[in-house]
Amino acid sequence: MRRKITIVGAGQVGTTVAQLVAYKNLGNVVLIDVVEGVPQGKALDLQESGCLQVFDSLIIGTNDYKDTADSDVVVITAGVPRGPGQSRSDLLATNAKIVKTVTEQVMKYSSNPFIIVVSNPLDAMVYMAKKVSGLPKQRIVGMAGVLDSARFRTFVSLELDCSLVDVDAMVLGGHGDSMVPLPRYTTVSGISITDLMTKEQIARLVDRTRKGGAEIVGLLKQGSAFLAPGASVMKMIEAVLLDNKRILPCTAYLDGEYGWKDIFLGVPVKLGSHGIEQVIELVLNPDEKAALDKSAQDVKEMIDEVNAILAE
Ligand code: LAC
Repeated sequence: MRRKITIVGAGQVGTTVAQLVAYKNLGNVVLIDVVEGVPQGKALDLQESGCLQVFDSLIIGTNDYKDTADSDVVVITAGVPRGPGQSRSDLLATNAKIVKTVTEQVMKYSSNPFIIVVSNPLDAMVYMAKKVSGLPKQRIVGMAGVLDSARFRTFVSLELDCSLVDVDAMVLGGHGDSMVPLPRYTTVSGISITDLMTKEQIARLVDRTRKGGAEIVGLLKQGSAFLAPGASVMKMIEAVLLDNKRILPCTAYLDGEYGWKDIFLGVPVKLGSHGIEQVIELVLNPDEKAALDKSAQDVKEMIDEVNAILAE
Protein backbone atom coordinates (compact mmCIF):
# COMPACT_ATOMS: atom_id res chain seq x y z
CA MET A 1 0.00 0.00 0.00
CA ARG A 2 1.20 3.50 -0.77
CA ARG A 3 2.25 5.71 2.09
CA LYS A 4 0.04 8.66 2.94
CA ILE A 5 1.46 12.07 3.64
CA THR A 6 -0.89 14.75 4.90
CA ILE A 7 0.11 18.38 4.70
CA VAL A 8 -1.94 20.77 6.80
CA GLY A 9 -1.87 24.26 5.31
CA ALA A 10 -1.92 24.89 1.57
CA GLY A 11 0.24 28.00 1.79
CA GLN A 12 3.70 28.43 0.35
CA VAL A 13 5.50 25.93 2.60
CA GLY A 14 2.73 23.33 2.42
CA THR A 15 2.53 23.58 -1.35
CA THR A 16 6.31 23.30 -1.71
CA VAL A 17 6.37 20.20 0.49
CA ALA A 18 3.52 18.65 -1.54
CA GLN A 19 5.39 19.31 -4.75
CA LEU A 20 8.73 17.90 -3.56
CA VAL A 21 7.13 14.83 -1.98
CA ALA A 22 5.17 14.14 -5.18
CA TYR A 23 8.27 14.55 -7.38
CA LYS A 24 10.00 11.92 -5.24
CA ASN A 25 6.97 9.60 -5.44
CA LEU A 26 7.15 9.12 -1.67
CA GLY A 27 3.43 8.39 -1.37
CA ASN A 28 -0.05 9.80 -1.85
CA VAL A 29 -0.42 13.38 -0.71
CA VAL A 30 -3.37 15.00 1.06
CA LEU A 31 -3.27 18.79 1.10
CA ILE A 32 -5.74 20.23 3.58
CA ASP A 33 -6.62 23.82 4.42
CA VAL A 34 -9.53 25.74 5.91
CA VAL A 35 -9.84 27.88 2.78
CA GLU A 36 -12.27 26.29 0.36
CA GLY A 37 -11.01 25.61 -3.14
CA VAL A 38 -7.34 26.41 -2.57
CA PRO A 39 -6.11 22.96 -1.51
CA GLN A 40 -8.35 21.36 -4.17
CA GLY A 41 -7.02 23.70 -6.87
CA LYS A 42 -3.39 23.28 -5.90
CA ALA A 43 -3.74 19.50 -5.60
CA LEU A 44 -5.34 19.22 -9.03
CA ASP A 45 -2.71 21.49 -10.57
CA LEU A 46 0.04 19.34 -9.02
CA GLN A 47 -1.68 16.11 -10.08
CA GLU A 48 -1.82 17.41 -13.65
CA SER A 49 1.96 17.85 -13.61
CA GLY A 50 2.43 14.16 -12.78
CA CYS A 51 2.66 12.93 -16.35
CA LEU A 52 5.30 15.59 -17.06
CA GLN A 53 7.32 15.23 -13.87
CA VAL A 54 6.74 11.46 -13.95
CA PHE A 55 5.05 10.62 -10.69
CA ASP A 56 1.84 8.69 -10.19
CA SER A 57 1.05 9.38 -6.54
CA LEU A 58 -2.47 10.61 -5.91
CA ILE A 59 -2.71 14.23 -4.83
CA ILE A 60 -5.88 15.10 -2.94
CA GLY A 61 -6.97 18.59 -1.92
CA THR A 62 -9.59 18.86 0.81
CA ASN A 63 -11.15 20.81 3.67
CA ASP A 64 -12.26 17.64 5.47
CA TYR A 65 -10.02 15.86 7.99
CA LYS A 66 -11.75 12.56 7.18
CA ASP A 67 -9.62 12.50 4.03
CA THR A 68 -6.46 12.48 6.18
CA ALA A 69 -7.40 9.14 7.83
CA ASP A 70 -4.52 6.75 8.53
CA SER A 71 -1.74 9.09 7.51
CA ASP A 72 1.82 7.84 7.91
CA VAL A 73 3.26 11.34 8.09
CA VAL A 74 1.50 14.62 8.90
CA VAL A 75 3.18 17.96 8.29
CA ILE A 76 1.66 20.91 10.14
CA THR A 77 2.36 24.22 8.44
CA ALA A 78 -0.89 25.91 9.46
CA GLY A 79 -0.75 29.33 11.02
CA VAL A 80 -0.05 32.90 10.05
CA PRO A 81 3.49 33.59 8.81
CA ARG A 82 5.84 36.26 10.10
CA GLY A 83 5.51 39.76 8.69
CA PRO A 84 8.40 42.24 8.41
CA GLY A 85 9.66 43.33 11.84
CA GLN A 86 7.58 40.65 13.55
CA SER A 87 9.30 38.14 15.79
CA ARG A 88 8.38 34.48 15.83
CA SER A 89 7.03 34.81 19.36
CA ASP A 90 4.62 37.59 18.32
CA LEU A 91 2.84 34.83 16.49
CA LEU A 92 2.58 32.57 19.52
CA ALA A 93 -0.94 33.21 20.76
CA THR A 94 -2.56 33.15 17.31
CA ASN A 95 -0.76 30.09 16.02
CA ALA A 96 -1.01 28.12 19.29
CA LYS A 97 -4.78 28.01 18.92
CA ILE A 98 -4.56 27.03 15.25
CA VAL A 99 -2.02 24.25 15.95
CA LYS A 100 -4.14 22.96 18.85
CA THR A 101 -7.25 22.63 16.68
CA VAL A 102 -5.33 21.11 13.79
CA THR A 103 -3.64 18.51 16.02
CA GLU A 104 -6.97 17.49 17.56
CA GLN A 105 -8.44 16.99 14.09
CA VAL A 106 -5.40 15.04 12.85
CA MET A 107 -5.46 12.69 15.85
CA LYS A 108 -9.18 12.02 15.36
CA TYR A 109 -8.43 10.20 12.12
CA SER A 110 -4.84 8.87 12.44
CA SER A 111 -3.77 6.76 15.41
CA ASN A 112 0.02 6.81 15.13
CA PRO A 113 1.21 9.38 12.60
CA PHE A 114 4.71 10.81 12.54
CA ILE A 115 4.08 14.54 12.94
CA ILE A 116 6.44 17.22 11.66
CA VAL A 117 5.58 20.71 12.88
CA VAL A 118 6.70 23.72 10.86
CA SER A 119 4.43 26.49 12.21
CA ASN A 120 6.12 29.28 14.16
CA PRO A 121 7.21 29.93 16.81
CA LEU A 122 8.41 26.45 16.07
CA ASP A 123 9.65 25.21 19.44
CA ALA A 124 6.44 26.31 21.15
CA MET A 125 4.14 24.97 18.41
CA VAL A 126 5.70 21.49 18.40
CA TYR A 127 5.33 21.43 22.20
CA MET A 128 1.65 22.32 21.80
CA ALA A 129 1.18 19.56 19.21
CA LYS A 130 2.89 17.00 21.46
CA LYS A 131 0.72 17.87 24.47
CA VAL A 132 -2.50 17.81 22.44
CA SER A 133 -1.67 14.66 20.45
CA GLY A 134 -0.33 12.60 23.34
CA LEU A 135 2.09 11.03 20.87
CA PRO A 136 5.28 9.45 22.20
CA LYS A 137 8.37 11.64 21.84
CA GLN A 138 9.67 9.48 18.98
CA ARG A 139 6.64 10.33 16.81
CA ILE A 140 6.74 14.13 16.83
CA VAL A 141 9.40 16.55 15.73
CA GLY A 142 9.88 20.15 14.67
CA MET A 143 11.57 21.29 11.49
CA ALA A 144 14.18 23.93 12.17
CA GLY A 145 17.71 22.56 12.42
CA VAL A 146 17.72 21.13 8.90
CA LEU A 147 16.77 24.57 7.55
CA ASP A 148 19.05 26.55 9.85
CA SER A 149 22.01 24.30 9.09
CA ALA A 150 21.23 24.47 5.34
CA ARG A 151 21.48 28.25 5.64
CA PHE A 152 24.78 28.00 7.56
CA ARG A 153 26.10 25.54 4.93
CA THR A 154 25.13 27.94 2.16
CA PHE A 155 26.88 30.91 3.80
CA VAL A 156 30.04 28.83 4.44
CA SER A 157 30.19 27.69 0.82
CA LEU A 158 29.65 31.24 -0.47
CA GLU A 159 32.35 32.60 1.86
CA LEU A 160 34.91 29.94 0.94
CA ASP A 161 33.85 29.79 -2.71
CA CYS A 162 33.59 26.00 -2.47
CA SER A 163 30.90 23.49 -3.38
CA LEU A 164 27.87 23.33 -1.13
CA VAL A 165 27.91 19.57 -1.22
CA ASP A 166 31.18 19.39 0.71
CA VAL A 167 29.85 21.52 3.56
CA ASP A 168 28.14 20.05 6.61
CA ALA A 169 26.85 22.14 9.47
CA MET A 170 25.30 21.69 12.88
CA VAL A 171 22.89 24.21 14.37
CA LEU A 172 21.37 23.48 17.78
CA GLY A 173 18.88 25.16 20.08
CA GLY A 174 15.63 27.00 19.45
CA HIS A 175 14.50 28.30 16.07
CA GLY A 176 15.00 31.90 17.12
CA ASP A 177 17.65 34.57 17.38
CA SER A 178 19.46 32.65 20.11
CA MET A 179 19.89 29.48 18.02
CA VAL A 180 23.34 27.93 18.32
CA PRO A 181 25.32 27.38 15.11
CA LEU A 182 28.32 25.24 16.08
CA PRO A 183 31.45 26.18 14.07
CA ARG A 184 33.49 23.31 15.61
CA TYR A 185 30.99 20.83 14.19
CA THR A 186 30.71 22.62 10.84
CA THR A 187 33.03 21.13 8.28
CA VAL A 188 34.17 21.25 4.68
CA SER A 189 35.07 17.72 3.60
CA GLY A 190 35.74 16.87 7.24
CA ILE A 191 37.84 20.00 7.95
CA SER A 192 36.33 22.17 10.68
CA ILE A 193 35.66 25.72 9.55
CA THR A 194 37.57 26.86 12.64
CA ASP A 195 40.67 25.79 10.65
CA LEU A 196 39.54 27.47 7.44
CA MET A 197 38.26 30.90 8.48
CA THR A 198 39.04 33.71 10.87
CA LYS A 199 37.01 34.26 14.03
CA GLU A 200 35.53 37.40 12.46
CA GLN A 201 34.40 35.56 9.34
CA ILE A 202 32.80 32.82 11.45
CA ALA A 203 31.06 35.36 13.70
CA ARG A 204 29.58 37.08 10.65
CA LEU A 205 28.23 33.82 9.20
CA VAL A 206 26.86 32.71 12.57
CA ASP A 207 25.01 36.00 12.89
CA ARG A 208 23.62 35.75 9.36
CA THR A 209 22.43 32.19 10.08
CA ARG A 210 20.65 33.31 13.26
CA LYS A 211 18.85 35.99 11.29
CA GLY A 212 18.37 33.82 8.19
CA GLY A 213 14.57 33.68 8.39
CA ALA A 214 14.28 37.43 8.98
CA GLU A 215 16.60 38.15 6.03
CA ILE A 216 14.16 36.41 3.69
CA VAL A 217 11.10 38.00 5.34
CA GLY A 218 12.70 41.42 4.89
CA LEU A 219 13.32 40.77 1.20
CA LEU A 220 9.93 39.26 0.40
CA LYS A 221 7.99 41.94 2.33
CA GLN A 222 5.06 39.51 2.44
CA GLY A 223 5.25 36.01 3.87
CA SER A 224 8.37 34.11 4.83
CA ALA A 225 10.79 31.63 3.30
CA PHE A 226 9.29 28.52 1.73
CA LEU A 227 11.67 26.89 -0.76
CA ALA A 228 14.43 25.91 1.69
CA PRO A 229 11.88 25.16 4.45
CA GLY A 230 9.94 22.92 2.04
CA ALA A 231 13.10 21.09 0.99
CA SER A 232 14.06 20.62 4.65
CA VAL A 233 10.70 19.01 5.46
CA MET A 234 10.98 16.76 2.41
CA LYS A 235 14.39 15.46 3.61
CA MET A 236 12.87 14.61 6.98
CA ILE A 237 9.88 12.81 5.43
CA GLU A 238 12.21 10.88 3.16
CA ALA A 239 14.39 9.82 6.10
CA VAL A 240 11.34 8.40 7.88
CA LEU A 241 9.55 6.77 4.94
CA LEU A 242 12.73 5.29 3.42
CA ASP A 243 14.18 4.44 6.84
CA ASN A 244 17.34 6.36 5.91
CA LYS A 245 18.52 6.71 9.51
CA ARG A 246 19.83 10.18 8.68
CA ILE A 247 21.55 12.11 11.44
CA LEU A 248 19.93 15.54 11.23
CA PRO A 249 19.50 18.47 13.59
CA CYS A 250 15.79 18.47 14.49
CA THR A 251 13.60 19.94 17.19
CA ALA A 252 13.14 16.98 19.53
CA TYR A 253 11.49 16.44 22.90
CA LEU A 254 14.18 16.25 25.58
CA ASP A 255 13.84 14.17 28.68
CA GLY A 256 17.10 14.94 30.45
CA GLU A 257 19.40 15.10 27.42
CA TYR A 258 21.63 18.19 27.43
CA GLY A 259 20.39 18.79 31.00
CA TRP A 260 16.86 19.79 29.91
CA LYS A 261 13.46 18.17 30.48
CA ASP A 262 9.94 18.72 29.09
CA ILE A 263 11.17 20.99 26.35
CA PHE A 264 11.63 20.83 22.58
CA LEU A 265 15.07 21.88 21.41
CA GLY A 266 17.16 21.52 18.27
CA VAL A 267 19.59 18.63 18.70
CA PRO A 268 21.07 16.00 16.38
CA VAL A 269 18.78 13.00 16.07
CA LYS A 270 18.62 9.81 14.05
CA LEU A 271 15.52 9.77 11.81
CA GLY A 272 14.25 6.43 10.54
CA SER A 273 11.08 4.41 10.18
CA HIS A 274 10.41 4.54 13.92
CA GLY A 275 10.69 8.32 13.87
CA ILE A 276 13.26 9.80 16.22
CA GLU A 277 15.30 6.68 16.90
CA GLN A 278 18.02 8.38 18.92
CA VAL A 279 18.94 11.76 20.36
CA ILE A 280 22.67 12.29 19.99
CA GLU A 281 24.38 14.14 22.81
CA LEU A 282 27.34 16.12 21.53
CA VAL A 283 30.23 16.95 23.81
CA LEU A 284 29.96 20.73 24.11
CA ASN A 285 32.60 23.09 25.46
CA PRO A 286 31.53 25.54 28.21
CA ASP A 287 30.78 28.39 25.75
CA GLU A 288 28.69 26.15 23.50
CA LYS A 289 26.79 24.72 26.49
CA ALA A 290 26.13 28.23 27.84
CA ALA A 291 24.77 29.31 24.44
CA LEU A 292 22.53 26.23 24.28
CA ASP A 293 21.26 26.87 27.81
CA LYS A 294 20.47 30.49 26.91
CA SER A 295 18.51 29.33 23.86
CA ALA A 296 16.71 26.67 25.91
CA GLN A 297 15.78 29.33 28.46
CA ASP A 298 14.19 31.42 25.69
CA VAL A 299 12.26 28.36 24.50
CA LYS A 300 11.17 27.55 28.07
CA GLU A 301 9.56 31.01 28.36
CA MET A 302 7.46 30.36 25.24
CA ILE A 303 6.56 26.90 26.53
CA ASP A 304 5.26 28.51 29.73
CA GLU A 305 2.96 30.61 27.54
CA VAL A 306 1.78 27.45 25.75
CA ASN A 307 1.08 25.74 29.07
CA ALA A 308 -0.93 28.81 30.14
CA ILE A 309 -3.02 28.58 26.94
CA LEU A 310 -3.53 24.84 27.53
CA ALA A 311 -4.71 25.55 31.08
CA GLU A 312 -7.33 28.12 29.93
C1 LAC B 1 12.29 30.71 8.59
C2 LAC B 1 10.90 30.54 9.10
C3 LAC B 1 10.20 29.46 8.37
O1 LAC B 1 13.24 30.47 9.34
O2 LAC B 1 10.91 30.31 10.46
O3 LAC B 1 12.42 31.05 7.42
